Amino acid sequence: MLETQVQPATIYLKDYKQPDFSIHSIDLVVELGEEVTTVSSSMTIKRMNHQASTLSLNGENLELISIRRNGLVLNDTSYECTDEYLHIPIPKSEEEFTLAIVTRIKPQENTALEGLYKSSGNFCTQCEAEGFRKITYFLDRPDVMSVFSTTIIGDADLYPVMLSNGNKVEEKQLDDGRSYVKWEDPHPKPAYLFALVAGDLACVEDHFTTASGRDVLLQIFVEKGNEDRCNHAMTSLKKSMKWDEEEFGREYDLDVFMIVAVSDFNMGAMENKGLNVFNSKYVLASPQSATDTDYDGIESVIAHEYFHNWTGNRITCRDWFQLTLKEGLTVFRDQQFSADMNSAAVFRIGDVQRLRAAQFPEDAGPLSHPIQPQSYVEINNFYTATVYEKGAEVIRMIHTILGKEKFRNGMDIYFDRHDGQAVTTEEFVKAMEDGSGIDLTQFRRWYVQAGTPVIKVTEGYNPESQQYSLTLEQENPKLAENFLPYHIPVDMSLLDGNGKAIGFTTDTGAKSTGKVLNLTQKKQTFVFNDINSEPTISLFRGFSAPVKLEQNLDNEQLAFLFSRETDLFNRWDAGQRLSSNILLSQVNRHDVGSLQILPQMYLSSIRNILNDRELDPAFAAIALSLPSEQDLAQKMPVVNVDAIHIVRNNALKEIGLKFESDFLQIYKDLRDLKVEGNQPIASNRKFKNTALRFLTATAKEDYFALAAEQYHAAENMTDAMASLFNLGESEGQIRDEIFADFYQKWEADPLVIDKWFTVQAMSSRPTALEDVTNLLSHPAFTMLNPNRVRSLIAAFVSGNPVHFHEKSGKGYQFLFNAIEQLNGTNPQIAARLVTPLGQWRRYDAVRQKLMTDKLEEILDISDLSNDVYEMANKSLH
Ligand code: ARG
Ligand code: ZN
Repeated sequence: MLETQVQPATIYLKDYKQPDFSIHSIDLVVELGEEVTTVSSSMTIKRMNHQASTLSLNGENLELISIRRNGLVLNDTSYECTDEYLHIPIPKSEEEFTLAIVTRIKPQENTALEGLYKSSGNFCTQCEAEGFRKITYFLDRPDVMSVFSTTIIGDADLYPVMLSNGNKVEEKQLDDGRSYVKWEDPHPKPAYLFALVAGDLACVEDHFTTASGRDVLLQIFVEKGNEDRCNHAMTSLKKSMKWDEEEFGREYDLDVFMIVAVSDFNMGAMENKGLNVFNSKYVLASPQSATDTDYDGIESVIAHEYFHNWTGNRITCRDWFQLTLKEGLTVFRDQQFSADMNSAAVFRIGDVQRLRAAQFPEDAGPLSHPIQPQSYVEINNFYTATVYEKGAEVIRMIHTILGKEKFRNGMDIYFDRHDGQAVTTEEFVKAMEDGSGIDLTQFRRWYVQAGTPVIKVTEGYNPESQQYSLTLEQENPKLAENFLPYHIPVDMSLLDGNGKAIGFTTDTGAKSTGKVLNLTQKKQTFVFNDINSEPTISLFRGFSAPVKLEQNLDNEQLAFLFSRETDLFNRWDAGQRLSSNILLSQVNRHDVGSLQILPQMYLSSIRNILNDRELDPAFAAIALSLPSEQDLAQKMPVVNVDAIHIVRNNALKEIGLKFESDFLQIYKDLRDLKVEGNQPIASNRKFKNTALRFLTATAKEDYFALAAEQYHAAENMTDAMASLFNLGESEGQIRDEIFADFYQKWEADPLVIDKWFTVQAMSSRPTALEDVTNLLSHPAFTMLNPNRVRSLIAAFVSGNPVHFHEKSGKGYQFLFNAIEQLNGTNPQIAARLVTPLGQWRRYDAVRQKLMTDKLEEILDISDLSNDVYEMANKSLH
């Protein structure tokens, strides 16, 4: 780190103080211009602290034009302006006053996509977490809630649509060719929920009538030409509105709900009050352009943002350390919603896969933090898998411990008690206790302890006494001696030799076949009576806690569970554990070039799945899919990327060859299936394309030809992408022609072109790194669009372990170059790309050195942003 660089300050939860002043209302007038935009803000401010002598407003990158207090102009000796604040002395006698501030900003030059910026000719905003201070001077903190009115003035031809939060109250044409629109939002809100959009957008409309009879106008604004791609988003929105009424008794509270799709967006979407702004990826879909996975993503993100209206907006966070209060809870709600709308078990498995893929490594690495972090440098770095996904698991555990009904009681109390407030996670947990009568004192440790608990299992069965005993022991490798035992709900059941649940007598004397054990001690034994034969334990059903299970099951036992478990999550998981055991033992014995033989018992458990025609095809597909290279890597003390890749590919090939005729039959049956009535076609497609993957893994030309045939016949993007993915692993003319054809066909459609970049970024072809490097110069590539950066750079560094970790270090250099460039234009996106380097401790000495050298180099980048500094600095130490 250069000595000239000042280390950015760390902000601590323990330093939280209530604001000295509150801003009751703010009237904004935003005059949009092609070079500068003028923002005039009039606020009514009340004193909260009688000792305070200065009002310090946040503001960054603003050109200050004028300030008036109570109507009188302040000259520049009566305030102080720094890079981050505007300090205004306020006489202690002043209880209430007005402040009018005029500033100028340059949205056209804003590449960081935070505050007010332009995307494809349209103005839009992103204020969470701290973007509002880039629009005007304000108390930009979530515990300051104000009533907003927003007047937008802009060129009538360029910006026929001008939107802000709440209801439109005035609209007129000015003499100078500009239009004038005024919006009022009656609900007090923190500045992070402010939004403004202006542009030449098309609008798709629908209506929803709430349970109490309010007619809500639903509008989705998109770039012209995309109107026919909003159906799924609109349907998902209506389903979400209905679901929140039915499940939580929550109704929408304004007469209009607007969604705007923009193409340049740092994250997935944003829940601004009444005016959600979305990454177009989570709005636009047609069967031709979007995959089944894209459809699922849209349904869940639309729901997520809509659910924020109650969990986030009506009740918001006191400070950003409470982020999981709204995010963990809202992810839990959207997961429950998606599970209800679809195949619940398959969706639960997907949620856990994502948790394990992203959150487990985060929690085991240098960036580990509790779901309620205790400090940060840049809050944008804390929109993490831990705060979101582990946060959702924590809420789910409360749901499991309380049961559905008491959980709902707790939620009702939470909504009643805190509507209109900015609160902490403590208030949430308290409401849950009050709604259930269950003590969550110990449970609260989940909020403040980092690391993934490990659970060790010991069992004992005594045929004489007919007693079965289960001993569970908790550890936390991250915190070692410093951790206090968690309260962990263990949803379990005892299975007999046929996989059927055995009845047992519970503590209350009632007969039961399954129950939730409360594991609260470091080591705890549970005894089950009247068990007349040795049972198989089924633990953490539905993944009832975010833990790692250390249970010494041999492959035979895992194979039994893989075919007989009644809990589908556990059944799938047993298959994954079995595959991992077998593949990792091969990795450990690996000598390159020899095709290792998969054990018979493993092959027969695969046959069981193939023969089980009762299974949901989507489940069969994920049950047959091997753990990813990244999954396997997590289970190795020192990751051997190359051996993992070879062994896994050999296994795919061997399974493909062994069951070639089965896979071909499945493929053909599902391909030729008539699509009629309400066939669950997405799950059939998934199974069909899994079969195709095993077929091409045999490396037989015929199957690449089959993939090519599928590509040409495809009527939907799921099938087209499956073909492209398979062909992406091959070499030769057919591959090259199809990639060229795909590009040509979809050139004008950025979301589809993203997919084209991603398939190439994830290919294991020997030239992959060269390919991605060349793609940086492709005319369609730009570092200014976050989706494009994710589709090429993030896809490569996190989805292509073999080539990213090339021993030459060229993969790391490729990443460094991208981070260096993005640090200047979009620090948020740059910071996220640092994560893979933070895993350096997991690799061999040569790679460790290469990776830490890059982290050092990152810290030497001139004008290093706080975002990147925090990530690189923590990753290194
Ligand atoms: N609250 C948004 C959501 O969960 C995420 C916005 C995060 N944006 C950011 N710049 N950190 O849907
Ligand atoms: Zn959210």
